[in-house]
Amino acid sequence: MKTRRRAEDPRAPDSARILIVDFGSQYTHLIARRVREAGVYSEIHPYDLSAEELNAFNAAGIILSGGPESVDEDDAPGVSDAIIESGVPLLGICYGMQALAKKLGGSVESAEHREFGYAEVTLNGSNQLLDGVASSQKKLKVWMSHGDRVDKLPDEFQVIASSVNAPLAGMADMTRNYYGLQFHPEVTHTENGQKIIEHFVHGVCACPSDWTPANIIEDHIDRIRAEVGSQSVLLGLSGGVDSSVVAALLHEAIGDQLICVFVDNGLLRLNEGDQVMGTFDSDMGLRVIRVDAETEFLSALAGAADPEEKRKIIGKTFIDVFEREAEKVTNVHWLAQGTIYPDVIESAGAATGKAHVIKSHHNVGGLPERMKLKLVEPLRDLFKDEVREIGKKLGLPNQLIERHPFPGPGLGVRILGEVKKEYANLLRRADDIFVGELRRQGLYDEVSQAFAVFLPVKSVGVMGDGRRYDYVIALRAVETVDFMTARWVRLPYEFLDRVSNRIINEIPGISRVTYDISTKPPATIEWE
Ligand code: XMP
Repeated sequence: MKTRRRAEDPRAPDSARILIVDFGSQYTHLIARRVREAGVYSEIHPYDLSAEELNAFNAAGIILSGGPESVDEDDAPGVSDAIIESGVPLLGICYGMQALAKKLGGSVESAEHREFGYAEVTLNGSNQLLDGVASSQKKLKVWMSHGDRVDKLPDEFQVIASSVNAPLAGMADMTRNYYGLQFHPEVTHTENGQKIIEHFVHGVCACPSDWTPANIIEDHIDRIRAEVGSQSVLLGLSGGVDSSVVAALLHEAIGDQLICVFVDNGLLRLNEGDQVMGTFDSDMGLRVIRVDAETEFLSALAGAADPEEKRKIIGKTFIDVFEREAEKVTNVHWLAQGTIYPDVIESAGAATGKAHVIKSHHNVGGLPERMKLKLVEPLRDLFKDEVREIGKKLGLPNQLIERHPFPGPGLGVRILGEVKKEYANLLRRADDIFVGELRRQGLYDEVSQAFAVFLPVKSVGVMGDGRRYDYVIALRAVETVDFMTARWVRLPYEFLDRVSNRIINEIPGISRVTYDISTKPPATIEWE
């Protein structure tokens, strides 16, 4: 079943796409995720998207996000005529509700008390959005985050929820299918928030639940085939989740037209190169060119101790090696990249100056122009969890899909200061013991990211009757949701004890192990 793209009839009533109009809330991406979790495709667009873009999107319903502004300020973003003229159901959340109320003739005031955090709302009357989400007393615990509130509803609207601080905490015009909520159904703190989103997309907008991994794959395969035709595609395969899923998806779509280049830079984890080749080349039958470039990377890095300089050298060497290998392959017209939806949102935010975080880790930047290749980015509209789901569905091993992130420069930023082969070898073994023990003891999935760091300082120890004067390993394990802030994991002492003993006993050259108890911020997750 595929109802999502209907080029032949762009106004088809069963089109199952939800448009999320972004007014700048920190929760906007969560709305998109919740809608997709409900099995409906959604995209985030800025509040000032043009009427043409809006019509081309062909939404079955529109959700207006929250936002930091006050609707009565000069230049405050508003609900466009095009949104109203689209005639589809609307759900305004927080600022979105206020902007909708204002647009349709209601008004908004500054609340005397800002409401932030839990609040209890009482539901009023019967409507498709909120029926069945509260207890028998019609009480619902919700998450509020607002200064302003609607103080007069537009004509034809009725109150569907009230809280102490916001008597008009929910509004509905059931004739036009317009709804507004002062609270945030998209955050997990709101009781039955997901149900409210589902009521809107399935009930009010009548979208079927067909955004499933199987359909996503089928849909993407069709699109890739249509885009690429019979031409060949080149992919830099790193063994990380995103590039692996791109590889599996492209292979499914175009088979041998996909050529992967896997660069072993000598800064990978223990046996990683063999594992990547085992999975993709031997098990899945992809065409993978393995380039052993350890010597080239290490000699380029010789003498460099500054973290940023090391990163630049690694990035540049990667491009040199990749380009050289790619030029040996003839008839390639496309370069595939593992860009995912959060990268797209972040870059769009960066372009409008709205995003707080900008991270672009695409290690083949600049190559498409230099090599005159067109870009194919099949994961561009997917969230990380969707990428994982389709990876599993495509048969990639769980171990690969659930892997902790690994930075592009690899062990290059986990060996402090100058990178040497000897250090990399010691670090690889220590990291393997640490991560292996996490897996064995069922702790790996409890931790967001864990790894060992090599400290090129020597410390005294004793072993048997002998004195040792060897290097130090630091262990790092963090839990985090977004990798922007992180907390060090309280790993059990017995576990740390075992890992430390094994590293010191099994790796000649390491005499001391420490555990990193720094929070981000101010420390970062990586040491460099
Ligand atoms: P930090 O150290 O900034 O790391 O707290 C946050 C997340 O980003 C990863 N990271 C990188 N990934 N290239 C990458 O591809 C890099 O240069 C890089 N630096 C940090 C880090 O592993 C963590 O997941």
